[in-house]
Amino acid sequence: MMEWTDRHCRYFLRLISRRTFLYTEMVTAEAVLYGDRERVLGFSEEEHPVGLQLGGSEPARLAEAAKIGAAHGYDEINLNIGCPSDRVQSGRFGACLMAEPDLVAQCVAAMGEAVDRPITVKCRIGIDDQDAEQSLDTFIDRVAQGGCKTFIVHARKAWLGGLSPKENRDVPPLDHDRVHRLKARRPDLEIVLNGGIESFAAACEHLPGVDGVMLGRAAYADPYLLGEVDRALFGDSHAVPSRLDVLDRFVPYVEAGLSRGVRLNAMTRHILGLFHGQPRARAFRRHLAENAHRDGAGIEVLLAARDIVAGTGKYEPSTVAAE
Ligand SMILES: Cc1cc2nc3c(=O)[nH]c(=O)nc-3n(C[C@H](O)[C@H](O)[C@H](O)COP(=O)(O)O)c2cc1C
Repeated sequence: MMEWTDRHCRYFLRLISRRTFLYTEMVTAEAVLYGDRERVLGFSEEEHPVGLQLGGSEPARLAEAAKIGAAHGYDEINLNIGCPSDRVQSGRFGACLMAEPDLVAQCVAAMGEAVDRPITVKCRIGIDDQDAEQSLDTFIDRVAQGGCKTFIVHARKAWLGGLSPKENRDVPPLDHDRVHRLKARRPDLEIVLNGGIESFAAACEHLPGVDGVMLGRAAYADPYLLGEVDRALFGDSHAVPSRLDVLDRFVPYVEAGLSRGVRLNAMTRHILGLFHGQPRARAFRRHLAENAHRDGAGIEVLLAARDIVAGTGKYEPSTVAAE
């Protein structure tokens, strides 16, 4: 998710779940080709498995960007056919490409020829006045012919005229059943459901009918919900670290980042939800929100927030109740 799932966020999430598959923010093929490669593509080894999400519609450029991404070590290259923003429409990529399955198939085929990793597509169930039954089937069948075997489907249309990107994540109605029907019709494909899944339990309810579930906003707001994933879905029996353990393991990463000149807030802004629903969570969030962005803010800000949430530091009694 743009502005959200950057490398610091992914490193943090990986401390909670070893197996959950993580994705980068969308980056355009051009940014990969012509941008500062380390800034655009750099990530920590600990983040694996991690997929690079590309935006674009020009097969040769996407193929080249995919090749560069694979050389950087990304485990999967994903093509974004779901983003509804105006900027993206004008550049002819994102959700508007739901109307151009042949072109998307060409993009996927070119990317697949360029790299030895899975090429996957994230899309919507349709756009605007498309018939979400017919046009989604046509889109998926055509793009699968191009070599894509995995589709992550955000189970709502994108309405490209008039809604902001944020509204396009909430206003068009969710239709999870449409994604289940897609899986039933194409059992040979890996179909991952996305959109409006609020909890781990809700994700599990879908799993008999689809191959996977992608969580966006819920996992960002309450990242510790990923703590159940490894054991419940992957049979991985390692002990899940407590929330405080996760925080303590993040501290050395933050210290290393600070020593490289990364601003404290760039790292700690992603952990505001770690204590979601726990005592003193609000005081923890407030301490970070009020202090981590200040010039020169150092590790002491994070350690003070830790003391607050652990109950060993100063906090206002009114914030003690579960929040
Ligand atoms: C701030 C923000 C940025 C997003 N950026 C991307 C993106 O770069 N690529 C993408 O495929 N989806 C992006 N999305 C959409 C989410 O991946 C997801 O499809 C959508 O939020 C619905 O899932 P959810 O209800 O689990 O959040 C973004 C969502 C948000 C809230």
